[in-house]
Amino acid sequence: MSSTVVTGIGELVTNDPTLGDSSLLGIVRDAAFVVEDGKVSWIGSSKSAPASDQLIQVGGKSVIPGFVDSHTHAVFGGDRVRDFVGRMTGEKYAAGGIKTTVAATREAGVDQLREHTAGIVGELRAGGITTFEIKSGYGLDVQSEAKILDVANEFTQEVTFLGAHVVPAEFASEREHYISLVLGEMLDICAPKAKWIDVFCDTGAFTPEESCRILDAGMARGLLPRLHGNQLGHTGGVQLAVEIDAASVDHCTYLSDEEIGSLAASNTVATLLPGAEFSTRSLYPDARRLYAAGVKVALATDCNPGTSFITSMPWVIATAVREMYFTPAQALHAATFGGSQALRRRDIGHLGVGARADFVILDAPSHEYFAYRPGSNLISRVIAAV
Ligand code: NIG
Ligand code: FE
Repeated sequence: MSSTVVTGIGELVTNDPTLGDSSLLGIVRDAAFVVEDGKVSWIGSSKSAPASDQLIQVGGKSVIPGFVDSHTHAVFGGDRVRDFVGRMTGEKYAAGGIKTTVAATREAGVDQLREHTAGIVGELRAGGITTFEIKSGYGLDVQSEAKILDVANEFTQEVTFLGAHVVPAEFASEREHYISLVLGEMLDICAPKAKWIDVFCDTGAFTPEESCRILDAGMARGLLPRLHGNQLGHTGGVQLAVEIDAASVDHCTYLSDEEIGSLAASNTVATLLPGAEFSTRSLYPDARRLYAAGVKVALATDCNPGTSFITSMPWVIATAVREMYFTPAQALHAATFGGSQALRRRDIGHLGVGARADFVILDAPSHEYFAYRPGSNLISRVIAAV
């Protein structure tokens, strides 16, 4: 078994508060670590680093865990640039625009979707994301949802069935029939292709009652629940997510003190998606309220053509710091450890002994540079365990 030592690290972010400076990020200075069999097997000071088969000399730069992007809609056809331009000149976002992407995605062949997704995934990885989730939800018929899930499975193990994204146009006057399709034939075909089930529980999409039925049916088939909630108002998504012990409730643009209290008392992660507020010109939620209450927080890209055509976690961090009042340390933690909690994974999102050796060497002396130097490429090298 070959070993690699990564040494000369000015700032090693481990996300293990028992290490180094005992902070949230568990920062070890003048650090080294050893990788064996795709896992971290030793952490210590550069001076005491053991001899290994290979050596990566970092030259005083910062090393962080690979980003964990727990929310993307990376498989889709077409674009929605016209919607975006409209919103920048005053139009309001409503879930209705999804139908444009549904039409383009139904039209696209598997090869075309695969090639397009490969481009998006290349961007995610180049920005330091080493684990990412992908949802369906732009097919909304049995065959197209299955096609999206098949493509998603070629790129990640974290695949989510989102047949209940919105009611498609052809079922507009028979929404109960669409829900029956999702609960029946669509789940029959799609459940074996996914790990998670998600519902867009919001105005213009599904009510909490409908969402609960759909999530229950998915859970009965072994899928794990997560939820889009509270993007467009206090629409009951957070409460439902907590009640069913969803791994995560995503968006949380609107949060009452009561909703924050129930999140804090739960195992459900609040996943904030600043790309969506940016691209829909909405007000950003204030992360200080979540941290003060002790809520588990993640940051994700929400990469999708309608409301967040964003693949850069460094951009997400910079925006979260500037607009959502995360500290740079909280934002980095949310984009790494928070993402792993939102996917209920213990092997990623940190660099303690035993963790998967997914890490990013920065072209900067500290993680604080993500917010300090927004727009500059600070990713020097991305290394993902195989
Ligand atoms: O996460 N909010 C719901 N779904 C997506 C965007 C859907 C769309 O407009 O294409 C989101 O923002
Ligand atoms: Fe989303």
